[in-house]
Amino acid sequence: MAMSQSKEQWGSRIGLILAVAGNAVGLGNFLRFPAQAVQNGGGAFIIPYLVSFFLMGIPLMWIEWGIGRHGGKYGYHSTPGMLDSLGKSKALKYFGVFGIFTNLAILAYYCYIESWTLSYVWHSLAGSFAGKSPSEVSAFFANYLDLGNGSKFNLPTEAILFFAVTLGINLWILSRGLSGGIEIASKIGIPVLILFGSFLAIRAFTLHAGESGAVNDAIQGFNFLWEPKFDSLSNPKVWLAAAGQIFFTLSVGMGSIHCYASYLREKDDIALNAATAGWMNEFVEVVLGASIIIPIATAYLGLDWIKANVGFEMGFRTMPTLFQNWGPYLAALAGLAWFGLLFLAGITSSLAMGQPVMAFIQDTFKVDRRKSTFILGTLILILALPCIIFYEAGAFNEFDYWAGTFALVVFALGESILFAWVFGINNAWEEITRGADIKIPLFFKFVIKYITPAFLSAVFIGSLIRPLNGDWKGAISSFISGKGWQLANDSIIGTLLNTGIQDTRWIIEGDITNVFIIDMTRLLLLLTFIGIAFMVAYSWKVKMNQK
Ligand code: PHE
Repeated sequence: MAMSQSKEQWGSRIGLILAVAGNAVGLGNFLRFPAQAVQNGGGAFIIPYLVSFFLMGIPLMWIEWGIGRHGGKYGYHSTPGMLDSLGKSKALKYFGVFGIFTNLAILAYYCYIESWTLSYVWHSLAGSFAGKSPSEVSAFFANYLDLGNGSKFNLPTEAILFFAVTLGINLWILSRGLSGGIEIASKIGIPVLILFGSFLAIRAFTLHAGESGAVNDAIQGFNFLWEPKFDSLSNPKVWLAAAGQIFFTLSVGMGSIHCYASYLREKDDIALNAATAGWMNEFVEVVLGASIIIPIATAYLGLDWIKANVGFEMGFRTMPTLFQNWGPYLAALAGLAWFGLLFLAGITSSLAMGQPVMAFIQDTFKVDRRKSTFILGTLILILALPCIIFYEAGAFNEFDYWAGTFALVVFALGESILFAWVFGINNAWEEITRGADIKIPLFFKFVIKYITPAFLSAVFIGSLIRPLNGDWKGAISSFISGKGWQLANDSIIGTLLNTGIQDTRWIIEGDITNVFIIDMTRLLLLLTFIGIAFMVAYSWKVKMNQK
């Protein structure tokens, strides 16, 4: 008998597909993808990116849908139970802690960025950016987040207010359940997002040098992203970045896809659903995501400027100024479209992170939707406040690194091995293809068994010991000649050992240091993980006693 009390289900297939597409399409498509592509050489990024999509992204989506629907059969809607049902070992459920932890931790800082977009919609419409110089618009952002105030703390009143509103909207939608909440939000959000995106992309493509203050043709920016270059194919750094982007953008390795899939019936299709959602995300990412921020910025600032300044803050620091070139009305409209699209992309993703955590709380403590919404809200607040208050000191980045990068790879590697090797490739294949509306080429059975785990292992080892400046050749020859391995500061081991930091004291002259804040952030994340593991243990104990 299923342990879950909630008998929730998706209302319709189109609702399900839009919800799953909304899960994947997020801030990653519009802010992270363009920045990653530019930083990794534009067209040089695209081939590793597409290869990662086929050999890792798509197979992982099938794996996660398979694990999710299989777990749903036993009444599980979060990964501890789902993994438990794949094999005999008692440890499996604890590996599933990742699938709660990652969602909760990403949710905390993701919701914060989401709240900036809401606030920027408001400021675009209110004309807050009108007549402001580029440096003033950039200063507006710093001011909004209370950056550079000379103290260790950021106390941005307005940003906290918008954060509270954004969190409230998320919780409200989640409290209404799958078909009454998430599905409706996705049915409105995704079409409007595509409309806003198309408007901006068309505006970008019609922007030629000499018009509306543009100095270059916007299309140059698009071409930079799209003209394939082969010179970086042997550069592991580009491969790691491409694989990392595939993870983030498809929401794989998080436990969030599993949860959505667990509300399917045993014989519902997953092969086509997963593929459709994946392709839809890629369309929004490589077509719309590549057609807005980079081309428009190229038109006004040129590619060299972008290469030097790109980053995810650019969407806030730079875009509002560029829109001003189009006159006050079009500028307000473009601001609404850009930040509105970011908000919609963001919220349909944050809902997808909230649902597995809600389901876990409901199953563990046998509470109703209302109470679990309240508990979720409290947990997010506890985790988000450090990101907000210690943004500048590095707490936010720490969350992004451990939850948004590291945990994804670890979990994906583990679950792919579990599914293909512990559960068994034949069971796995049967699970993925049961009720399928498309025929998945048999070739993917091989991919899922060997290639995807091997690919993931390479990504993991690569991030673990990435050498200084991504110079693998140099590091290997230095290692062979006995001079040791020069670690990159942002490799996993380098990060753990704080190799990039000269002075690792916690307190200097009576003042706490960034190192202290970063270490405390890591401690908080670790305690969160352990806390969830205890809840899993508790939940199983209760279940055993009931038997
Ligand atoms: N895929 C989303 C994006 O591109 C992020 C996300 C992470 C969504 C985790 C759900 C769960 O922004």
